[in-house]
Amino acid sequence: MSPINSLRRNPWFETVAEARRRARRRLPGNVYGALVAGAEHGRTVDDNTAAFGELGFAPRVAGHHGARELATTVMGVETSMPVVVSPTGVQAVDPEGEVAVARAAANRGVIMGLSSFASKPVEEVCAANPNVFFQVYWSGERDVMLQRMERARRAGAKALVATLDWSFSQGRDWGSPTIPERIDLWTALRMAPQVLPHPGWLWRYARTGHVPDLTVPNLRPPGGRAPTFFGAYGEWMGTPPPTWDDVKWLREEWGEPFLLKGVCRVDDARRAVDAGVSAISVSNHGGNNLDTTPATIRLLPAIAEAVGSEIEVLLDGGVRRGGDVAKALALGARAVLIGRAYLWGLAANGQAGVENVLDILRGGLDSAVLGLGRASVHELCPDDLHVPPGFAVALGSGSGPGR
Ligand SMILES: Cc1cc2nc3c(=O)[nH]c(=O)nc-3n(C[C@H](O)[C@H](O)[C@H](O)COP(=O)(O)O)c2cc1C
Repeated sequence: MSPINSLRRNPWFETVAEARRRARRRLPGNVYGALVAGAEHGRTVDDNTAAFGELGFAPRVAGHHGARELATTVMGVETSMPVVVSPTGVQAVDPEGEVAVARAAANRGVIMGLSSFASKPVEEVCAANPNVFFQVYWSGERDVMLQRMERARRAGAKALVATLDWSFSQGRDWGSPTIPERIDLWTALRMAPQVLPHPGWLWRYARTGHVPDLTVPNLRPPGGRAPTFFGAYGEWMGTPPPTWDDVKWLREEWGEPFLLKGVCRVDDARRAVDAGVSAISVSNHGGNNLDTTPATIRLLPAIAEAVGSEIEVLLDGGVRRGGDVAKALALGARAVLIGRAYLWGLAANGQAGVENVLDILRGGLDSAVLGLGRASVHELCPDDLHVPPGFAVALGSGSGPGR
């Protein structure tokens, strides 16, 4: 398609799959590659989406409800539907980055998760959306962690998300994109063959008069400069991994609401309850962590069964349709978080593209609730699904050695 035709094309898209195709066309190869991510063979990233397709719906033929309730709360924060923007640290997709995502989420009444590795400062993001959950890794000395948390609290963040599952796994069989430390003239020249065939992306940056800034402003020390992405990554890698006592400390320092993201095992979910968290997300980091970890939707039922009456259980990984949201809720999730789906929307059409993705999920969820004969997302239950034998996987539910 010529650039002229592509400019004329209707910017609205009808599925997340189409947003992904447009993101692929619009973004330079290395930026698109960073969004697709995944680890090693990519079995987990694939299973996260494929597993949703293995679950079937059990629709009703009559007695449907004319109006359906999709709104809910997550850790006491209201949301117009059980979908939360998951924190992602990806620079260079769009010049407005997380601020555009936050505005889109605010316009659709949805909570915004902001990564500490994001490209925009927490103050700007909180100004764009009143309901921000700020995400941290276990990185740096304790006083530095406290300073970052307090900055987010002052900015107005409503909850802390601690993502602790990352194990620095490396390597993708299909190749990892090259990401520069910073963009100077030499880097720009070197990247030119990748960038020039994507005039739409280039134009978005050209209009701002800035090249992508690959720094991490939320990790800037008081009075200092924001570290580069790789500088921040180095600090994180060099920090000794947290114990359960550290999780408890983090939770006590922040208070509530506190979400522990990255739980795959029933025994970990129980320890999270003991550490005093308000919620967990059943998550394998979108298939970017230990490859061959099962899809999160397979892990959800056992975890929800074990701790769902004590804390809120969320899920992230592989959500691409409103029907996926309904399936996760039917199997015990309070809400889901989405990652790639909104990143592809952002790449395809900026803020409007993220709104487009949220509308697709809302429409699909509403259709599922309608077809299943339910009046509210809170009524969804396992009876609404066909769950094939052997689908669910319970990790860490035995009596193995604990730590
Ligand atoms: C490109 C990319 C960057 C991510 N960065 C972060 C991050 O900075 N912090 C975090 O907690 N999770 C991060 N995640 C994981 C997401 O929050 C979420 O767990 C995952 O994307 C969910 O899977 P999905 O992409 O299939 O929806 C990232 C995921 C992707 C794809």
